[in-house]
Amino acid sequence: MDKIAVLTGGGDAPGLNAVIRAVVKTARHDYGCAVMGILDGFDGLLEDGGTLLLSPKEVQGILPRGGTILGTANRGNPFARRIVRDGVESIEDVSDEVVDRIQALELDALIVVGGDGTLRISYELFEKGCPMVGVPKTIDNDIGGTDVSFGFDTALTTATEAIDRLHTTAESHHRVMVLELMGRDAGFIALHAGIAGGADVILIPEIPYHLDSVFAKILGRAGTGRHFSIVAVAEGAYPAGGDQTYALEGDENYTSRLGGVGEIVAAQIAQNCEMETRVTVLGHLQRGGPPTAFDRWLATRYGSAAVHVAARKEFGQMVSLQSQEIRQVRLEDALAHPKRVNLQGDAIKTARSLDICLGEAVIP
Ligand code: F6P
Repeated sequence: MDKIAVLTGGGDAPGLNAVIRAVVKTARHDYGCAVMGILDGFDGLLEDGGTLLLSPKEVQGILPRGGTILGTANRGNPFARRIVRDGVESIEDVSDEVVDRIQALELDALIVVGGDGTLRISYELFEKGCPMVGVPKTIDNDIGGTDVSFGFDTALTTATEAIDRLHTTAESHHRVMVLELMGRDAGFIALHAGIAGGADVILIPEIPYHLDSVFAKILGRAGTGRHFSIVAVAEGAYPAGGDQTYALEGDENYTSRLGGVGEIVAAQIAQNCEMETRVTVLGHLQRGGPPTAFDRWLATRYGSAAVHVAARKEFGQMVSLQSQEIRQVRLEDALAHPKRVNLQGDAIKTARSLDICLGEAVIP
């Protein structure tokens, strides 16, 4: 193995730099192998000046830094790339150009650090003969085939701290505080942070909510002297029989952006419970800043393991965490079943045992 490359794609997540650093260090130390960095996701393989050699100097001091030194792109799908020619826009499949470029660069492997979208592109490139290895990244924790993706723990920590902060002001002002959290179609951030922060209500996409039970919970608390409540709402949560709320509709190469359910839930609570209600949308604060120790530890192990997978020429694989051990799964298998909150799992059971309202229908 003489030369490999690494790229980061999709939304950023804390720990990306830790993966890049681990790839560079492991490749050099264990295999005497050079590492190229591809800039801005797959865009760097399609544009001039889109690559750079990553020497130890480039990765010095990046372990605790959020973001990615390589840049990333949300609209960088080479199978559906937006092209503007003579002022006319079209969506084209330019994946063959990417395949050619990987060959021209004489890469022995391309390590791709990304979420489901980026990993799916990697799988399709693998099907076209490219030497791909995947690393699961996302704050949403919704990638199959792994117990956890790096980035999730940091987002969870930030979300839990936000709930702690909302608690003190909610109690002082006798208010209901609604906190909208990220996670796309998975409720992991809201559920785990809600439990860790002691939320009274947690609404997740896996359980379409009934507002009657939310009102009953909040009014029940007020009736016993607790004139404040904390409601953690996942951005993908939606009412039973209703739809998710979007801040922006998507297009051919950009998924719709969720957002706004917190405002809707808060307005209903204010009206029906007649309590002062405020909304906080935590947004990209969940993605920025330094990774937690857990995410640095996991990202470093993932990066190092990905190099070993590449050295063994086991392409089309993704590194994964299974029962505390780093293993690998076929990209195809990891992508077949996106991860969602297990409604029979212990987190949901714990929430119910703690009398946290999950927005489930009230059984008379
Ligand atoms: O997938 C990570 C994530 O932060 C989601 O939780 C969120 O819905 C989305 O990305 C936001 O994307 P953008 O960076 O386009 O605002």
